[in-house]
Parts: sequence; C-alpha cells; structure tokens
Amino acid sequence: MSAAPVPEMADCAAACADRLHEAGRVIVASHIDADGLTSAAVAGAALERAGIPHEQTFYDQLDAEAVAELAATDYDVVLFTDFGSGQLDDIAVHEERGDFVPVVADHHQPADGVETEYHLNPLLFGINGARELSGAGAAYVLARALERDGVDNRDLAATAVVGAVGDMQAVDGELVGANAALVEDGVAAGALAEGKDLAVYGKQTRPLPKLLEYATDTHIPGISNSYTGAVEFLEGLDVDCRSEEREWKRWVDLTDDERRRVASALVRHAMSRGVPAGKIDDLVGTTYTLANETPGTELRDASEFSTLLNATARYDRADVGLAVCLGDRDGALDTARTLLRTHRRNLSEGLNWVKEHGVTDEPNLQWFDAGDEIRETIVGIVAGMSMGTAGVDRSKPVIAFAEESPEETKVSSRGTGTLVRKGLDLSAVMGEAAEAVGGGGGGHDVAAGATIPAGTEREFIDHANQLVGEQLG
Ligand code: C5P
Ligand code: C5P
Ligand code: ZN
Repeated sequence: MSAAPVPEMADCAAACADRLHEAGRVIVASHIDADGLTSAAVAGAALERAGIPHEQTFYDQLDAEAVAELAATDYDVVLFTDFGSGQLDDIAVHEERGDFVPVVADHHQPADGVETEYHLNPLLFGINGARELSGAGAAYVLARALERDGVDNRDLAATAVVGAVGDMQAVDGELVGANAALVEDGVAAGALAEGKDLAVYGKQTRPLPKLLEYATDTHIPGISNSYTGAVEFLEGLDVDCRSEEREWKRWVDLTDDERRRVASALVRHAMSRGVPAGKIDDLVGTTYTLANETPGTELRDASEFSTLLNATARYDRADVGLAVCLGDRDGALDTARTLLRTHRRNLSEGLNWVKEHGVTDEPNLQWFDAGDEIRETIVGIVAGMSMGTAGVDRSKPVIAFAEESPEETKVSSRGTGTLVRKGLDLSAVMGEAAEAVGGGGGGHDVAAGATIPAGTEREFIDHANQLVGEQLG
C-alpha cells in the first residue's frame, strides 16, 4: 500500500501519519505557489478523508515571524508543506517550548544542524528534491500513509503531478524517479493520463495561431513570435483549423489524425528552415492530462493548471487556487481565470522589462534589479523564463532583485541542469551570500531565493559571484 519511493521514507511517512491521526486540531501551512497549493490540497483532502479536523493557511515566506504567528494559535499540530525544512531552526524554538508539534512534508534543502521527529523530505532519503519529488509529492507520500479503513488516496497523485510540473521538475519534459511512480499511481487511479504530444504550452486553451506563435522553446523561424507567420503556416495545411463559425480551433479540438498532420508539417517546416535535429526532437514531449477535468480547460493539462494556480497564490489569493484544487468549478474557477489574465500580462511585461533593460554581467553570473517594476512574488518565474530568451545567457546563472518592502529586497536565482551537473548549487549560494549581508535564503540547486536588507544588493552579488566561481571552479 505504501507509495513511498524507498522503505525508509515509508517508515517516516507512517510515523508522521500516526502523529496526525492522534492530533486534535491540525493547521496546514503552505507556500504560495503552484507546488505549495497542490501540497495543501493533497494534504487537506487526505486529512479530510481521514476525519482529522484541520484548517489551511499560506505564507509567502516561512520566517521566524510566520512560525511565531502559528505558535500563537491553538492548534496542537502544524503540518508544514512545501516549506519548513529550511526553517527547522525557527520551528525548533517553538517545538521545544511545546507550542506545537511540527510535521514537515517538504523538498527544500534542510537547515543545517537541526532535526525534528516528523520530517518527511526526499533529500533525507537520497531522492533529489528538485527533480524527483516536489512538495506536493512529499504531501502525497504522506497522504498515502494517512489511508485507513478502505480510503484510497491514489487519485491525489494527479494533483501532486500538477505541483511537480509547476515546480519545473520535468527533465527534458518528462517526470522522472519518484515523480514517475506518482504518475503511475495517478494513471492507475484513472485520474491522470500520460502521452506523447507536441511539447508546446497551451494545447488546451490557446487558439492554434497563438499556440504556435508563443511556441518559443524551440525557435521555429517564421512561426515563433509571429502571429501572421503562424496563420500562414496553418492556412497552408490540408487540415481544417477553423470551426464552422470560422473561429480558430485549439489543439484539443483537432482529431488525433489532424494533430499528427499538423505536428509533422511543423517538423518539416522547422527542418527546412535549418533547425538542428536535437532541437526538433524537443518539439515532442510528454504531457500529463488530468483525465477527470473537462477538455479545453486549463485544468485538463498539468502545465496550464499549474500556471492557473500561480496566478492565484502569488497574488494573495491562495484561497481561490486551493478551492479550485479541491474541486470548486464555479466561483473560484472564474476568479482564478480573471487572475490568470493579470498574471499573463505581468509575466509578459516582466520579460519585456528584462529584454529592454538587459542584465549586468559578472565573471560567474548575470543579474538585474527590477526594483518595483516586477512583483517580488513572480520575479523568480520571470528570471527563469528569461534564460535563453530576453538576452539572458544560459551559460551562467541569473540573479534577480525586486523590492519586497522599502527595507527588504527579494532575490531569486535560476540555473540550468547543465550548470548543476558542473557543480552549481544555488541553494548554498543564496543561503551563504544572504547570511553574509544579514539576510536569509535557500531553495534548490537549480532554483533558489533569498531576502536581504535593501542596499546590500551589490555586496550580495560580490559574495554570490565568488561562491558560484568556487562551485564551478
Ligand atoms: O518553493 P518551490 O520549491 O516550490 O519553488 C520552486 C521554484 O523553482 C519554481 O518556481 C520553479 O520555477 C523553480 N525551478 C526551476 N527549475 C527546476 C526546479 C525548480 O526553475 N528544475
Ligand atoms: O521565489 P523563488 O521562486 O525565486 O524561489 C525559488 C526557490 O527558493 C523556491 O523553492 C523557494 O521556496 C526558495 N526560497 C527559499 N528562501 C527564500 C526565498 C526562496 O528557500 N528566502
Ligand atoms: Zn516546491
């Protein structure tokens, strides 16, 4: 019955689950992004099915203040999901005082020198927390351990997959390791389907010309970034890409055969324009479909679903995203879609800002300071999207600053798989450089963040540049 990738993790999950079953009232505290929301949803559903009274809360960053706020409530158990490991020092203070019993289901780099009894983190069991299991995956392992009396939580694997995809855990478009086992569970439960398809974002909701125009991961000359080019390409095909009302169809509206024909025409077009074979292979990838959701909605595709969730939680509306994850298909979904329009606009404006202003080059990294031009809750997403586009090089990590408050600056950093294989660990860079200037940070090897005192940005960059240099030596 165990869903844990290794027996030691199963034992740990079982202990955490037993403690939760004994709890009086539980508060689930989670991070405000797609993985945090899906972690909260998976944990919440499992607690609900187990009949354990609980409530949910969310934080932008879990810091000493946030932990103190949780300690001041009258819940006996705090279940931290998608954060907590990096803040075990802050948590330990309250645990020792008996303010609450912490149960942590997370995948971030744990804080040094502190441990706690109920700590479920793939990194403690030799599983990569940036590629093989996300926060929602850790919550799913816990959810399976919470099963009693015929409860089957395997359907929650579909929600956890949305979290993993939202955390960019797919390697070359495909979930691997413990994440792949989760996919199998979701498929077995009938909640998820896995397939090979065009690896382009927006297959459920975007009209075909927009789908192709925005398909820029593999640059297709004459089509990527060109609406008229995409229209011309589609009109030249022997496939009816418009409905009877002459509206553009979406990818999901095409038959399997039509999809194959469009995809092979696209490959032929790319080849004829000299796109290298390796890049052409990237046009096809693995897609994760939520089998119980309505086709043509954002909820049907794991990647689109995760963007919808980021559009809620990163704008102080985690309640909306959580409600959608838990099945609200009316009011909450409408609100989420409205928020999505704003989110998309902000991402595109953010990317344009980076393109216009460029980055400052250091020997071992590149950086930009967006001030209050990019919201601090999405500056990390923009930094990630900017790599390899917006004039940002993929040969060095990128660091982005945004104003968090007049006193504090948010830092986000992103690397690449290739750099990580050469020794890059941004979690250590963010943690150490932030500490050196009086702030704090952490995360994953490939993506990490920090909060530092305003005014220390230059000093921070110098530290970070040196640390990256040492890592890539
Ligand atoms: O806090 P959390 O772990 O949920 O955040 C992960 C962040 O790291 C995501 O915003 C994601 O964009 C980024 N990431 C990435 N590439 C990876 C893994 C994570 O950009 N391979
Ligand atoms: O905020 P951003 O998307 O850049 O965060 C990247 C990763 O770094 C996330 O996993 C986030 O949880 C982590 N992070 C952290 N401590 C911070 C800021 C971010 O652990 N102060
Ligand atoms: Zn996460």
